[in-house]
Amino acid sequence: MKNIMNAPFLKEFVKTTSNMYRLGWDERNGGNISYLLSDEEVKEYEIDEVIRELPLGFDAKKLAGRYFLMTGTGKYFKNCEDDPENNLGIIRIKEDGSTSELMWGFKDGGKFTSETPAHLMSHIARLSVDPSNRVVLHTHPQNIMAMTFIHPISDREFTRTIWKMNNECIIVFPDGIGTLPWMVCGTNEIGEATAEKMKQYRIVIWPNHGIYGVGSSLDEAFGLVETVEKAAMIYNIIGERKIINPITDEDLKNLAEYFNVNYRKDFLDI
Ligand code: 13P
Ligand code: ZN
Repeated sequence: MKNIMNAPFLKEFVKTTSNMYRLGWDERNGGNISYLLSDEEVKEYEIDEVIRELPLGFDAKKLAGRYFLMTGTGKYFKNCEDDPENNLGIIRIKEDGSTSELMWGFKDGGKFTSETPAHLMSHIARLSVDPSNRVVLHTHPQNIMAMTFIHPISDREFTRTIWKMNNECIIVFPDGIGTLPWMVCGTNEIGEATAEKMKQYRIVIWPNHGIYGVGSSLDEAFGLVETVEKAAMIYNIIGERKIINPITDEDLKNLAEYFNVNYRKDFLDI
């Protein structure tokens, strides 16, 4: 069995947290990531002894037996790379679905992120529509956050505006962006609402707070958030100035058709 400290997935995970920290997205303990380990990864590394049990407080039976690498609650993204064993942990979901077992990490007595309901419920929702999904990533990017203070919060309106701020957007997320009303974070309720949106979207916005992105890899989940954040930055740079050279609904349709992506046709006025 190999030492988990050398695992490529752990290295990529901590590089991602450092990268996100340097982008200014994850102040203090802001943001959290969960990564579903594959059966091969579990077999290859020494993670077969239960250290202690951690209750979940909701039903995750659909994930029974699955292993997740997760950021810890109250832990800083900037510290994960130098000290993964304190800031991160690997949990296994017990058969009862309401308890998890700590298999590695959270060495100082810590536990998984307070957003675990939203993470695990989103994993369940995404796996039901895309069995290749592995990553749920939550973060507080500056421009997305700023935009949610001044832009109407609706899936259709938010998606349309973002699609029109960067040519790439409709190609990268033709399925659009889901939005929630402001809700108290960390609760099962916001977890359930996020997961409901995740049945149709890979991106969910929490107004005045941040964003969730998912994917089959860290790159994919990060890339989605990065693309939305860039578009939100363009939106904020334009500000109140009049757009005289817009990307039109017709342009978006032509782009989506040329790149052969299954886009939300009901989000365009065509
Ligand atoms: P945690 O420190 O519990 O992960 O919370 C950070 C956060 O972003 C809450 O939404
Ligand atoms: Zn947050």
